Amino acid sequence: QQGPAFDVNAMTLTRWVLAQQRTAPSATGDLTQLLNSIQTAVKAIQSAVRKAGIAKLHGISGDTNVQGEEVKKLDVLSNDLFINMLKSSFTTCMLVSEENPKVIEVETERRGKYIVCFDPLDGSSNIDCLVSVGSIFAIYRKDSSTEPSVSDALRPGRELVAAGYALYGSATMMVLALGAGRGVHGFMYDPSIGEFILTDPLMRVPDKGNIYSINEGYAAEWEEGLAKYVEEKKRPSKGKAYGARYVGSMVADVHRTIKYGGIFMYPATKSAPNGKLRLLYECVPMAFIVREAGGRASDGRRDILDIQPTDIHQRSPCFLGSKLDMEELLSHLN
Ligand code: AHG
Ligand code: MN
Ligand code: MN
Ligand code: MN
Repeated sequence: QQGPAFDVNAMTLTRWVLAQQRTAPSATGDLTQLLNSIQTAVKAIQSAVRKAGIAKLHGISGDTNVQGEEVKKLDVLSNDLFINMLKSSFTTCMLVSEENPKVIEVETERRGKYIVCFDPLDGSSNIDCLVSVGSIFAIYRKDSSTEPSVSDALRPGRELVAAGYALYGSATMMVLALGAGRGVHGFMYDPSIGEFILTDPLMRVPDKGNIYSINEGYAAEWEEGLAKYVEEKKRPSKGKAYGARYVGSMVADVHRTIKYGGIFMYPATKSAPNGKLRLLYECVPMAFIVREAGGRASDGRRDILDIQPTDIHQRSPCFLGSKLDMEELLSHLN
């Protein structure tokens, strides 16, 4: 029998977040408001990403960011959207963005209790050739009553309240983890009503996969244990070889790893001794989500959520994915 042509009772992200708020007795509605402001930023970014080629939004903005990267026009647009929507939600007191060298302080009259670290547009190098890109965010609650300062953002990922990402792929999807064992849930964007619809409740990373994901262009710079592990995936001493998939946009590579299983790796190399991915707004939110979905995430030596950050833009090696694949990798690294 055909499903309803038009769902008159759609479980939208807005409705789902509100229902979650109702289950938390002490909830004030601030996190609901915060998540809805992020949802608005993501809706606007997805619209800009999908018409960038027409709206002359491809190409570089002419600036270089604190990462030393050429800033793309969509990097700037996405960053401005995140900052404006978050500030005007009256729920944040400080923001950390990949695109801003220093923390962004919210003016006192618009302050709230949350701190958001975000990568407004992930995978920028893939924009002009139309390969999937994403946005990533991590939400902390400010516990101290002092003036917001950078130390309020330099906390281990275990203290996160929530984390999520948006994937601007063949479809647009938001994936959200609210912590405390409430699982990871995927919401697909329905452009006909402009809402995210719950399509993937309680996402789980398969315990073992058969895909490894790493940029093999740096193979000459890998530590020996990693080279041995990748070799084992290609020419296994027993069983079938793994498939290789690498998009080069972290959100796309991580989302596939959650959906299909396997392992995503961005290791340290000789030229990048701490790897390339940034801890606060790439490694930690993704580690939080993968862990909440039953996977594992490590910097090669310890759980990414246990790292005590010292700088808002510090980088970390990043290995994440299926529990059994991660255990096998870590046995090669230590
Ligand atoms: P961003 O575009 O936000 O700077 O992040 C790009 C990152 C990440 O998306 C991806 O996993 C990684 O860069 C790919 O790096 P390589 O091209 O060195 O593999
Ligand atoms: Mn960048
Ligand atoms: Mn990124
Ligand atoms: Mn980015």
